[in-house]
Amino acid sequence: MIPYEVIKKKRDGNKLTKEEMEFMVMGYVKGEIPDYQMAAFLMAIFFQHLDDEERASLTEIMARSGDMIDLSDIGEKIVDKHSSGGVGDKTTLVVAPMVASLGIPIAKMSGRALGHTGGTIDKLESIPGFKTSLTLEEFKSNVKRYGIAIVGQTANLAPADKKMYALRDTTATVDEISLISASIMSKKLAGGADAFVLDVKAGSGAFMKTVEDAVKLAKAMVSIGKAHGKETVALVTNMDEPLGRFVGNSLEVLEAIETLKGNYNEKFFELCLELSSYMVELSGRMDRKEAKRQLLENIKNGKALQKFADLVKAQGGDERVVENPREVLPISAETIEVKSKKKGFIKSVNTEDIGVASILLGAGRTKKGENIDHSVGIEVLKKVGDEVENGEPLAILYYSENSKLEEAMEKVASAYEISDEKVMKMPMIHEVIR
Ligand code: URA
Repeated sequence: MIPYEVIKKKRDGNKLTKEEMEFMVMGYVKGEIPDYQMAAFLMAIFFQHLDDEERASLTEIMARSGDMIDLSDIGEKIVDKHSSGGVGDKTTLVVAPMVASLGIPIAKMSGRALGHTGGTIDKLESIPGFKTSLTLEEFKSNVKRYGIAIVGQTANLAPADKKMYALRDTTATVDEISLISASIMSKKLAGGADAFVLDVKAGSGAFMKTVEDAVKLAKAMVSIGKAHGKETVALVTNMDEPLGRFVGNSLEVLEAIETLKGNYNEKFFELCLELSSYMVELSGRMDRKEAKRQLLENIKNGKALQKFADLVKAQGGDERVVENPREVLPISAETIEVKSKKKGFIKSVNTEDIGVASILLGAGRTKKGENIDHSVGIEVLKKVGDEVENGEPLAILYYSENSKLEEAMEKVASAYEISDEKVMKMPMIHEVIR
């Protein structure tokens, strides 16, 4: 077999065998296949796509390219949750302790910010002292002892994805359903959970801009899960406006803590409750109706918040963050409002632009490995359907001396489209795929 043959076969729209894909992917991981041939192969997939069987094989090859984490010694069914990436998406910080508060173990590996979207690991590192890198033994022992652990992906988790993703990022081959689904699911399979709840985002702040494409991605991932014997549910959810009230690392941790205290944005909490209830259902403990009842009870009685406190304590974070998040978290005192230049109703919010504005403030990276500023971000005051007066603030920017403030302010202002006509509010959940 030579790379030329495999590239040509896919370029011409033919189905590849598992051996052919393994030859390309593992050859690339080992450095035997150069970037230019892999880039051509990815572009062939971009245009010709993969069928369900090819996707399942590609996912498995990528998952097995590195460590396959074994969580079986935890002794209970492990249900994982994954978001395809959005702006203001701090759901893991709320959903994980909610589910763990029912005695269902959470053993979660999360990612860092990707493109204009935020990452759970960066957010957790806003908490002074919080360690996101544990040995596998420490990780499992925390799950057994506290019922919850959230860490960064180990260095050798799906290395094929790491290398291929970096190449896709620079060759305009990220946004293809087969490649995204294999990328996400390879990391999920390697992470060792038994079942998955996927939050597939649709809209201007997501990788999938339309609900139609997000549904296709959701179906592809559910089918990959099924092909590997893992129960998988996907919720296609709205990312046509930032999720919740805050965007930015410390600010999102603050919002997560407030949510666990019962002071929540209704739509954000609706999503957290739905995702949590599906996780509980997949754990096999109870049905979704009973799960929702108990999850709500654990918000009211403080048990979910206590689980968050357990997580912070177990991973070396400053436990006072739970009682006094505004004092413990680094949140910039420098703020400025972005005001509306007209009266009307919010028609749309370009959510990717809000994500980019938060990067301009310093909350995300413009280069690999760059330091981020945990103290900056955006408070989103107006959402789709809200009424606004001329001169009324649309958003508050939290900035620091390193922020590109002018550019960020312009991005936020131009992200808003305001109409004279009344606008309907957006639903949170578009579709559920099982
Ligand atoms: N997230 C991933 O992990 N991979 C992709 O390809 C896109 C989003």
